Amino acid sequence: MKLAAAFVLAALSASAADAPAPPAEAPVYTADGRLVPPPDYREWIFLTSGLDMSYRARSGMDMHMFDNVFVKPQAYREFLRTGTWPDRTVLVTEVRGARSKGSINQHGQFQTTEAMGLEIHVKDSARFDGGWAFFAADSAAPAPQIPVQAECYSCHREHGAVDTTFVQFYPTLLGIAEQHGTFSAAYLKERDQSGGGH
Ligand code: HEC
Repeated sequence: MKLAAAFVLAALSASAADAPAPPAEAPVYTADGRLVPPPDYREWIFLTSGLDMSYRARSGMDMHMFDNVFVKPQAYREFLRTGTWPDRTVLVTEVRGARSKGSINQHGQFQTTEAMGLEIHVKDSARFDGGWAFFAADSAAPAPQIPVQAECYSCHREHGAVDTTFVQFYPTLLGIAEQHGTFSAAYLKERDQSGGGH
C-alpha cells in the first residue's frame, strides 16, 4: 500500500513537473510578461518580402526598406492543413535596409546587413485578450507587449485576410486560405469592393 502510494505520488509530481514545459516551438516570455525575441527566426519558414510597403502617405524621405516575414515551421504546417493559425503561432517581420548601387548591381534594390528591428505577432489565447499580441524589438532584449490601443491591433483586425494576419500578401498561403474558406468577413468585403480577384 505504502509503496503504491509513493509510486502514485512520484508519478503525480513527475507529471506536474512536466506539465508547465511549453511545446518545443512555444513563445518564450520573461516572468514579467516581456517576450524574448526568437534568436533563430532566420531558420523559420519565409513568407514574403515587401519593398517600401506603406499604408501612409509618402514621407518624402529618399530611403528604401524591405520587410521580411517569417513564421515558425510548426505553425506554417498547421496553416497548410487548416487554413488558419494554431495557438502559439509566432510571426516575425524583420525590417531591413535597402541599397541600389553596390557590387555589380546598377538598378533595383537589394537588402543590406542593416537590420532595423523586429516586429513580432504572437497568438497565445491563454495570455492575450483576443488571442493575439504585438511586440517590437530592436535588440535581443525582451520586449514589452505593445498596448492593445495601438494602431497595430486595429489595422491588423480590420484588414488582415486571416485571423488578424496579412495572408493576402503571403503568396504560398493565400490559395490555402481560399480553399479552406478562412478569410475574415472584413477582408472579403474589402476584396469585393476593390473589384474582386487577388
Ligand atoms: C495600417 C495597417 C498596419 C498597421 C498600423 C500595422 N501593420 Fe503590421 N502589417 C501590415 C501589413 C500590410 C503587413 C504585411 C507585410 C508584408 O506583406 O510584407 C503587416 C505584417 C505584419 C507582421 C507579419 C505577420 C502578420 O501579422 O501578418 C507583423 C509581425 C506586424 N505586421 C507587426 C506590426 C506591429 C508591431 C505594428 C504596430 C507597431 C503593426 N504591424 C502595425 C499592416 C499594418
